[in-house]
Amino acid sequence: MLELTDIDAFYGNSRALQGINLMVGSGEFLSVLGRNGVGKTTLMRSILGLMDRVTGRLSLDGTDISGLRTHQRAKAGIAYVPQGRGILPRFTVRENLTLGTFAAKSANGIEEWVLELFPVLKDFLNRYGGNLSGGQQQQLAIARALLAQPKVILLDEPTEGIQPNIVEQIEDVIVKLNREHGITVVLVEQNVAFARRASHRFALLEKGRVVAKGAIGELTEDLIQLHMAV
Ligand SMILES: Nc1ncnc2c1ncn2[C@@H]1O[C@H](COP(=O)(O)OP(=O)(O)OP(=O)(O)O)[C@@H](O)[C@H]1O
Ligand SMILES: [Mg+2]
Repeated sequence: MLELTDIDAFYGNSRALQGINLMVGSGEFLSVLGRNGVGKTTLMRSILGLMDRVTGRLSLDGTDISGLRTHQRAKAGIAYVPQGRGILPRFTVRENLTLGTFAAKSANGIEEWVLELFPVLKDFLNRYGGNLSGGQQQQLAIARALLAQPKVILLDEPTEGIQPNIVEQIEDVIVKLNREHGITVVLVEQNVAFARRASHRFALLEKGRVVAKGAIGELTEDLIQLHMAV
């Protein structure tokens, strides 16, 4: 279980998150929704320990991890698929995947089940990451995160800017990770239809605060109009 209590996060002196309280149960799927610039990525970065300064308490399975460095949080079981994917373009697919394995608690190398989720990666192991399409890079970013053997995976707009034919494939894998592999998912998403299909719970952000949260069935059209329409 991942729990955020009274989290504030700062870029220098500017406060980007204010009083965030959120809980994601083990095996749950939470979607974080909201317009551009409301703090969704900042929330992911705060969970990972990538911000200049965060106050409040963050716990994983009852243990306070607020004081841990990013690599320790990764070892504790939190993996991150960043917005924009963060693939190293001059590293091969294999090398990008190997980076993920370094964050795993027990070194298992590039596990077969992960490659089987994304067969295209298997074919392209020796290609440079930078030569893959956007959709393939996204699949690589997810695979890399899975090789860290996470309990919780944070996915920041994983289908943003991806060709439609690959979007559905990526969405199906994300649902499968949760339902079949029991991985807890925190998904940042602008696509409400996918959030509804995939999630158990939602949180809506506005100006760095949670303005609504609950079971996904409570995500009404009114809330979407109010907090997501542009
Ligand atoms: N590196 C930074 N330095 C200073 N301010 C930042 C930085 N990154 C983001 N911000 C500010 O923090 C706020 C939240 O940004 P954030 O990137 O978390 O939003 P977001 O919800 O992820 O947006 P998007 O949907 O466009 O990805 C915004 O006001 C943004 O301008
Ligand atoms: Mg963002």
